[in-house]
Amino acid sequence: MHFFNQKTMALLEVVHLSKSFPGGTEALKDVSFLVGEGEFLVISGKNGSGKSVLMRHLNGLYKPDEGKVLYRGTPIFKDILMVRQKIGMVFQNSSSQIVSQTVGKDVAFGPENLHINAVEQNKRTNKALEDVGLLDKIDHNTRTLSGGEKRRLAIAGILAMNPEIIILDEPFSNLDFPGVQQVLRQILFLHKKGHTIICITHELDKVLYHADRLILMDKGSIVCDNIPGKILIKAPQYGIRIPGNIEKEPPLLILERMSWLK
Ligand SMILES: Nc1ncnc2c1ncn2[C@@H]1O[C@H](COP(=O)(O)OP(=O)(O)OP(=O)(O)O)[C@@H](O)[C@H]1O
Ligand SMILES: [Mg+2]
Repeated sequence: MHFFNQKTMALLEVVHLSKSFPGGTEALKDVSFLVGEGEFLVISGKNGSGKSVLMRHLNGLYKPDEGKVLYRGTPIFKDILMVRQKIGMVFQNSSSQIVSQTVGKDVAFGPENLHINAVEQNKRTNKALEDVGLLDKIDHNTRTLSGGEKRRLAIAGILAMNPEIIILDEPFSNLDFPGVQQVLRQILFLHKKGHTIICITHELDKVLYHADRLILMDKGSIVCDNIPGKILIKAPQYGIRIPGNIEKEPPLLILERMSWLK
């Protein structure tokens, strides 16, 4: 298990981030945390707690009202194009991330935009599709893919950009049991390969067992940030279901159950 060590430089630093929207919604209130290299972090919280808004600040899609995000010690807006390559994002509605007619072209779209040469584009596309198990569908029409395959295609699209950090927003939504297992295996594989993973989900029972760390959000604030076994018992009070009885069972026994690969 890896847990971020304050002595090493943080890969990502989120510093006193606040964001309100017109109409008065305070989506983020003074959010701060550090992400270390190689971590597998899960961010959870009920609907509307601010998870997706937070994610969009991490690669500069949203600008904060207050605070900042640093990548390897430098504010992200200093070189936002580089940061967007380093931090790959699979959005909550991943089918909206599909832009091309065929699977292969869709994966090549990112590298093409970076003006990477055709040989390297092909190499990256094939490797990314192989990694997510979709190489046999390289010439298929993207519209014909299943929901699970579309999510894996979105993952391949970001892998082709060689990201360091991979952030996935609700990667298990709308997937059946084998679909969740495939995406979960994919996430674990990428973590093992050395990518830093941030998985945003309210479906903790599917993934938490594998995570190094859990952040719970509520009403735009971080309410807990620690190793999963230590704060799991607090999840229900913030609207997150856990598969067990926190009154009667030890948290570590409940945590053992929190994977759909078991
Ligand atoms: N572009 C926007 N304009 C106005 N309000 C917004 C905007 N985006 C998000 N919000 C509001 O900010 C709050 C946090 O939204 P966010 O999408 O981050 O929630 P979430 O934790 O991702 O929820 P879910 O689990 O439903 O995906 C909500 O109250 C939402 O209505
Ligand atoms: Mg969301």
